[in-house]
Amino acid sequence: MHTQTLAGKTAIVTGASSGIGYATALALAKAGAAVVVQARRQERLDELVRLIESQGGKALAVAGDASREEDIDNLLEQATSWTRGGSKYDIVVVNAGRGLAGGILHSDESQWQEVYDVNVLGAGRLLRRAGHYLVQRKGGDIVVVGSSVGRNISPFSGFYGSSKFAVGAMAEALRREVCTAGVRVSVIMPGIVVSEFQGVAGYNAENFGKTVEQFGKLLQPQDIAEGIQFLVSLPPHVNINEMMIRPTGQPYP
Ligand SMILES: NC(=O)c1ccc[n+]([C@@H]2O[C@H](COP(=O)([O-])OP(=O)(O)OC[C@H]3O[C@@H](n4cnc5c(N)ncnc54)[C@H](OP(=O)(O)O)[C@@H]3O)[C@@H](O)[C@H]2O)c1
Repeated sequence: MHTQTLAGKTAIVTGASSGIGYATALALAKAGAAVVVQARRQERLDELVRLIESQGGKALAVAGDASREEDIDNLLEQATSWTRGGSKYDIVVVNAGRGLAGGILHSDESQWQEVYDVNVLGAGRLLRRAGHYLVQRKGGDIVVVGSSVGRNISPFSGFYGSSKFAVGAMAEALRREVCTAGVRVSVIMPGIVVSEFQGVAGYNAENFGKTVEQFGKLLQPQDIAEGIQFLVSLPPHVNINEMMIRPTGQPYP
């Protein structure tokens, strides 16, 4: 299989102000794609756009909340009216999301709604809209950032993991609906990646550190970004539907 250049493609990346999304936007831009980046922190996006442009790439920041319907619609409208990006999009990386430490008994219930709003409902709304659009264009890529805890029940993030089971199921459901139109859908399932994720989720030495100490070197966002770049650079007739990437020393989940 020969991977293809992304020149001429436009990619939307949500959750691009930090971690996996930030690294993915950079990687896709380096591979030739024009990128449209979304997150809530505008100044981080502006800094990312400046960096991509300083490397000769094309980027557009559209600040917004990935769980809000009007912000999702605005993101897609901005992408399709951005003339430097060809007034269209070909690739959507559904990445915005957040973790939550603990299982059903001990995770902070006051944060349950927010976890599902962004990880499940926001992702679902973007999948639905991008799915319709790419079917009409008869091709394109949707990559959903799931999780190894969206496949295996996690001892330390059981509630969050359930949201990743849900988004993984939606991605596969969508794949079955759009694949005959030439649209690829893939789920990438990272193990533990060092990012702002741990702080947002509420992990600390007590509930997390001791376990992961034994895993050795953990993943960097760049490791996942390269996986995503590979998926969207495959020849159009090849769809790797699922990709799990763990630190070598992570036995579980
Ligand atoms: N790190 C891990 O170990 C790991 C493992 C498996 C899966 N994942 C998944 O990978 C994805 C990225 O996580 P990460 O590790 O890169 O974490 P991160 O560094 O915390 O980045 C999360 C990104 O999502 C954005 N975001 C969060 N809520 C949002 C919202 N409501 N609207 C718009 N943007 C939002 C954040 O931006 P703003 O705060 O600026 O909005 C940020 O850009 C998530 O879906 C996560 O569940 C992470």
